[in-house]
Amino acid sequence: MPDYKYSTLAVHAGQYPDPLTGAVNVPVYLSSTFELTGIGTDKGWDYSRAGNPTRDRLEEALAALEGGTSGHAFASGMAAIYALVATLHTGDHVICSHNVYGGTQRLFNLVVRNYSIAIEYVDTGDLKAVEAAIKPNTKLIHIETPTNPIMSLTDIAAVSEIAHAHGVEVSVDNTFMSPVLQSPLGLGADIVMHSTTKFLNGHSDGLGGAQGAVSAGAEGGGRNSFALRVLPGAARHQDAAAAHEGA
Ligand SMILES: Cc1ncc(COP(=O)(O)O)c(C=O)c1O
Repeated sequence: MPDYKYSTLAVHAGQYPDPLTGAVNVPVYLSSTFELTGIGTDKGWDYSRAGNPTRDRLEEALAALEGGTSGHAFASGMAAIYALVATLHTGDHVICSHNVYGGTQRLFNLVVRNYSIAIEYVDTGDLKAVEAAIKPNTKLIHIETPTNPIMSLTDIAAVSEIAHAHGVEVSVDNTFMSPVLQSPLGLGADIVMHSTTKFLNGHSDGLGGAQGAVSAGAEGGGRNSFALRVLPGAARHQDAAAAHEGA
């Protein structure tokens, strides 16, 4: 992608004519399955949960808009958050902003804790409290800034610096700011996520979630492609098209 200004990037990211037909808008490929070209070979897609050309374009756009090198589109914001924690292990410890979106808290408290993954809610606006909460088994600090609905703020750069000094990854729920107003990866976070249902889509006509990782080699990127393949949370092609149009 050329070095566009942000507004130009928003128009062009993932938007180019369809190589097959020349269609200038991203076609919605309503196909669950793709013909193989031989045994073990295909034209880039085999099954839409693992990858769909329409979803790919949204993922490209999200990665470009967030300044990451990989993007992953999920069926909802909750699916994206679930994927974030689904590949953690029993005994791991997660620090989470203390007044994150209620659905995130329900997922963490009622589901994730059942896998003996410890979730500790901390006022992540208080950097001393963040550092004091880090344990040898802390794997992730999940920040929402501003939080929904109280609008508490966290200094993403400062928390990322503390986390990385302890070998801990940082994920940021950027739903309320959108990549236009806040760039968590640019501030040092490892993973950024969204409910694209909200501002990224902007038209209230689709449900979706997304994650972008800071680099293709970052654990988050690999983990998310794995999560899309094995977990029940990949974005539907129609929702991906709607979110892409909004983004
Ligand atoms: C900040 C935030 N994160 C995540 C979610 C969950 O997203 P979804 O409703 O798309 O599953 C929401 C939904 O309101 C939200 O506000």
